[in-house]
Amino acid sequence: MLSVTYSASVFGIDAFLVTIECSAIRSLPAFEIVGLPDLAVKESKQRIMTAVNNSGVILPDMEVTVNLAPADVRKEGSALDLGILAALFKACGTIPPERDLSKACFIGELSFTGEVRRVKGALNMALGAAQAGFTDIFVPERNLTEASAAAGNGVNIYGVSSIIQLISHFRDKDPIKPVTEPPMTVKSDMKLIYGDFSQIKGQLLARRAVEIAAAGGHNILLVGPPGSGKSMIAKRIPTILPELTYAEAIDTTKVHSVSGLIDPETGIIGHRPFRSPHHSMSTAALVGGGKIPMPGEISLAHNGVLFLDEFPEFKKDAMEALRAPIEDSTVTITRAAGRVTFPSAFMLVCAMNPCKCGYYGSRRGKCTCSAGEVKNYLSKLSGPMLDRIDIQVEMPELDFAELSSSDPGESSDVIRARVEKARRLSRERFRAAGREDYALLSNAKMNTDDIRRFCELDEGCLKIMENSFKRMNLSARAYDRILRVARTIADIDYIASGGEVTVGLEAGGKIAKKHVMEAVQMRSLDKYWKNG
Ligand SMILES: Nc1ncnc2c1ncn2[C@@H]1O[C@H](COP(=O)(O)OP(=O)(O)OP(=O)(O)O)[C@@H](O)[C@H]1O
Ligand SMILES: [Mg+2]
Repeated sequence: MLSVTYSASVFGIDAFLVTIECSAIRSLPAFEIVGLPDLAVKESKQRIMTAVNNSGVILPDMEVTVNLAPADVRKEGSALDLGILAALFKACGTIPPERDLSKACFIGELSFTGEVRRVKGALNMALGAAQAGFTDIFVPERNLTEASAAAGNGVNIYGVSSIIQLISHFRDKDPIKPVTEPPMTVKSDMKLIYGDFSQIKGQLLARRAVEIAAAGGHNILLVGPPGSGKSMIAKRIPTILPELTYAEAIDTTKVHSVSGLIDPETGIIGHRPFRSPHHSMSTAALVGGGKIPMPGEISLAHNGVLFLDEFPEFKKDAMEALRAPIEDSTVTITRAAGRVTFPSAFMLVCAMNPCKCGYYGSRRGKCTCSAGEVKNYLSKLSGPMLDRIDIQVEMPELDFAELSSSDPGESSDVIRARVEKARRLSRERFRAAGREDYALLSNAKMNTDDIRRFCELDEGCLKIMENSFKRMNLSARAYDRILRVARTIADIDYIASGGEVTVGLEAGGKIAKKHVMEAVQMRSLDKYWKNG
């Protein structure tokens, strides 16, 4: 008997379909897999036979040959087990011959006991299969919540926990009830995890800067002496970020899915990721790498925050490796196995002391660093890196009155409401401009065309820009970044003064002088770099 089934595999975050042809002829028992399989696929043979035996399924004596196509693509991982098993069962008659498997796609790894184990990239594969027109997608039970995002529009997702369950399903003994609609995302309360902005005393400038950064998705650097609250404020950023759109949630979950980091209970990630890798982390772990390329921290932070605390302590090559992904929102990794591009649209949040001892420019502590040491410390941040940070803000130590004040600061919820509306304004502009990916965009992602369209400056504003350009010796990139921040400040002010979200290219109104001035000030930490 000859049978054909389908499965999928992932390379990077993209899924591709694998056709499994199985020929079974009555003969002495033998089992062979061909089609350029890697080690994991070869091992599949052993897993499948052991799993079948341990499940008590008796197969007739057959010589079985399995061919995986396309043969010229390297197939990694063990997610093909279930598809190979289904092909084998179909060829041997264990799955009744009248069952049509032409619209079914099987994804899953087998254990020796006959259970179906969870795999990495289940969401990516299920989405790929659905897009290719498959209507019945079988995934491991433990991957069902994430893979269910591919359900709907006639696509059914089945969670399989064992070989026996699969056989019962196809013999109509105990059919598996499929998921037919995509699930809602589960949203956790970020304030319970990270704390609330109302706990932060004083630091009005930093609070304002962080709000602007969150609204526009801008990169931000916080500089200040030890204990001024840099880490405290950075960790609370997730509590004021706008909600993930569904499209963003799917994109983020795909990256986490191939890394095997999805919680089987919650499935689709419902909140913006916050990643804070330690400075001792290897460059490969930060930007992605490995023999079979895997996403690094910058991709796990996709659509969320990458927080680099003690920024100058990061290795030089790690910092430099961040430069291209910051500009492109993607990172490309080249290995012998091929080239892979992972998304990496993160908001970069960095914190640092102004010098090695931490007290340069401090009101309280005395700096023990020599001028040369201060300069050395600051020079760890290269010019191109600084150029990419839209907002640089100083956080001085609090004085006693501020610290002992019992006035609660504005809460995360109040700030978030403004941020959310400001973000919607920018999306409406992108939508009006005909950008298809408008749901994924923020002001920080404006390209030169967008800047020309949305950041029109009048005479007065242009004058301020001209002066700053000369005085601060700005690069063309910094110039554009100031305009993007000015756009966000104009949006926030519009919302804060009671404006409602409107649609169209003009949403949020015009940029005024005060917006440009504030945007320029938000980059004025150059004094450290110039004087240091
Ligand atoms: N603005 C603030 N409001 C309330 N508490 C604060 C504030 N700043 C600092 N603290 C208190 O000080 C502690 C240390 O702050 P934090 O860890 O954020 O400092 P830091 O600026 O990151 O210092 P370092 O440079 O040493 O990393 C906080 O956990 C908090 O208890
Ligand atoms: Mg800190």
